[in-house]
Order: sequence, then structure tokens, then C-alpha cells
Amino acid sequence: MKVLILDTPKVAIARAAQTVAETVRTNPQAVLGLATGGTMLPLYDHLRTLHSEGLSFAGTTSFNLDEYVGLSPDHPCSYHRYMAEALFDYIDIDPSHAHLPKGDSTNAHAEANRYEARIVEAGGIDLQLLGIGINGHIGFNEPTSSLGSRTRVKTLTESTRQANRVYFERDDQVPGFAITMGVATILEAKSCLLIATGAGKAEAVAAMIEGPLSALCPASALQLHPAATIVLDAAAAHCLRLRDYYHHVHPEGKDRVLA
Ligand code: GLP
Repeated sequence: MKVLILDTPKVAIARAAQTVAETVRTNPQAVLGLATGGTMLPLYDHLRTLHSEGLSFAGTTSFNLDEYVGLSPDHPCSYHRYMAEALFDYIDIDPSHAHLPKGDSTNAHAEANRYEARIVEAGGIDLQLLGIGINGHIGFNEPTSSLGSRTRVKTLTESTRQANRVYFERDDQVPGFAITMGVATILEAKSCLLIATGAGKAEAVAAMIEGPLSALCPASALQLHPAATIVLDAAAAHCLRLRDYYHHVHPEGKDRVLA
């Protein structure tokens, strides 16, 4: 795991955006795995700016991690809508190449299988963006999700429903289920880039990086990934025991060059 600790959320987001931009510049046909949540909004803002400065997404394909079961693409709280409003409406990605699970499909289980197969057909994901839930979830893989799981329907925990409550008008509108890529689906991406900012994520971040590999913290599965980069601001890095070492290895988020 490459652990990059930057001082502020702003610098952390800029560092993450740089990795996405490099991926797309190196491979204009890149398959991007995309994430939602508050953490990603400034990242998508940054990508919009890079696009206005010439970065093209025209050849890219994208697959989002998850979608709420029961919400149609045009529902104001759906992740389809989130992605349109945060990114897709402002860049040149071909809308037919921008995939999310269909939350309003009549058979959510079949939709999950179809989605997993579609990722394989596209040749797999080159760069998977990830956030982390305060309970250590990635995508909507809640604690005790199988580390071998594939795209499927997951029941959301009360803590996740509460964390996402702000996006809905009423408590009873927050969906109880989601279709999410599985932990094993995520681990198959050629590289993973997880971003966490703010003190609220510090404990989950420490469990992911320094805790035992455990289904209790699904994000800890990234310890198995050969090319996982974790970008943190100082607040999110606060509980890491080896913080000084990570700063030493990657001063200001840069790679230390062998003398
Ligand atoms: C949601 C999403 C995750 C996201 C997490 C954290 O539950 N399904 O993909 O990483 O929340 O969101 P935030 O960035 O808002 O803290």
C-alpha cells in the first residue's frame, strides 16, 4: 500500500486528481471505476477543471461502484443523478460508456450479475476510485462482507443509512439495499485509489491500513492489492501509528527516489 499524507483536503484532492489525469493521459481508452459520496465531489470538480484545460475523457469507459435499490436513474438521490450533476454533464465521456447498476431493475440480483459480467466484457477496471465509510465499508460492502464477494445486493447498516440521511428529505426515504461491486470485484481492478479526508474517517483509515485483514473492515482487503494508493489529509491520517514512516517514504505525497 502506498500511503500518501497531504496537509489539507485541498492538496490531497489535487494529488488524487493528478493520478486520475495521468491514467487517462497514458491510456485515453482507460476503464475508470468511479465512486460517490461527499469526498468525491471536490475531486470531480477538479477533473471538470482539468477537462476545461484539455483533458479528454472521450475514449474512457466508466463503471460506478454502486447504486441504491429502488431508485430510478432520474431520482434526485440516485447515484445516476449524482454522477450526472457532479461530473458526466461537464465532461466529454460518451454517456453510453458510463455505467452504473440499474437500481430500479425489476430483478436486482440479475442486474448485479449482468453488471459484473459487463465489467469483465470491458476488459476490467484500470483505476478504481474509492472512498471509505466510517465503518470501513468500500462501495456498499458493509462490515462482514465476504472478501471474495462479487457484485450483488447488500443490506445497508443503520450507520450507513444515517450517514446518507442528509441527501434525503425523510428518514423513511433512505433505501435499505444497494447493488454494489463486491470486494473481490474491486480487488481485480489493476490499481485502486482510495481517498479519505477529515477526522471522522481517522479510525476507519487506521483499521484499513494497520488493522488486521478482516471482513469486519472490508477496506482492509486493500492490503492484498498490489497497487493500492491511499490519499489522506492530515486529519484522516491522525490515528495511524506509522504516520512518520509514511511521511518519510512519501514526503508531501511524492515518491522518494533511490539515491
Ligand atoms: C457511501 C458510498 C461509498 C462512499 C462512502 C463515504 O456509502 N457508497 O462509496 O465511499 O459513502 O462517503 P463520504 O465520502 O460522503 O463520506
